[in-house]
Amino acid sequence: MLLSLPVTDRKIIICRDLDELSRQAAAQFVVLAQQAIIARGRFTVALSGGSTPKALYSLLATDELKQQLTWQKIHLFWGDERCVSPDHTESNFRIVKESLLTKVQIPTENVHRMAGELAPFAAAIAYERELEEMFLPLEESLPRFDLLLLGLGEDGHTASLFPGSAALNESARLVVPNYIEKLNAYRLTLTLPVINNGAQIYFLVAGKNKASMVKEILQRKTGDYPAARIQPTHGQLTWFITQDAADNLALSH
Ligand code: 6PG
Repeated sequence: MLLSLPVTDRKIIICRDLDELSRQAAAQFVVLAQQAIIARGRFTVALSGGSTPKALYSLLATDELKQQLTWQKIHLFWGDERCVSPDHTESNFRIVKESLLTKVQIPTENVHRMAGELAPFAAAIAYERELEEMFLPLEESLPRFDLLLLGLGEDGHTASLFPGSAALNESARLVVPNYIEKLNAYRLTLTLPVINNGAQIYFLVAGKNKASMVKEILQRKTGDYPAARIQPTHGQLTWFITQDAADNLALSH
């Protein structure tokens, strides 16, 4: 169900539940991938961590969808990563490996994981180099992902851009280590210039516990939350939201 909010250059897709959200996002993923491969010979996507996208990743691995995707021409990246080893339960890479990578024939060299096992500063520099190899030189001087998937934290964070964290002010780097006070831990994250340079940005948001922040980001706009800074410079922003996470929105039909 596609509803429009007043004000917006955004698409808002309200879904009955996480299952429908995952199916709709997976269907769009396939379309974008096919279009990008026809147009530019490859599809580059930055994946999100967290629990919301797991079902989407699993759907992409089903017989029905995986055979619609030319995995040799798809390049998977991550929007952020925890500073842990790739087999750690906290690893965003591990989530994707278990739900998708072990089930599709994607070339190893097409899987561009952030090296959470390295020292944060070294891992960020290494990933910047990988992005530069894959995307630059580009007339835009920034990587332009065909698609970025993002989640929304109850505190308004997205990727590993947390409220009040240093990475929010980064305007030159592509990838930075970001110390998160409340987690007492470093995270690796793409920076806002890279995310906002994306062609398509999808927020995937599910659960009653997100309703207040969804309302804040999409309508109230009283605070300065990281998710509110996701404003593609020349791309399309789409919010996939479950009904319970959209309950606080005043929607015009
Ligand atoms: C991460 C994600 C993070 C996540 C949100 C929402 O590394 O955890 O990048 O930004 O998307 O915290 O997480 P849920 O989908 O689990 O609610």
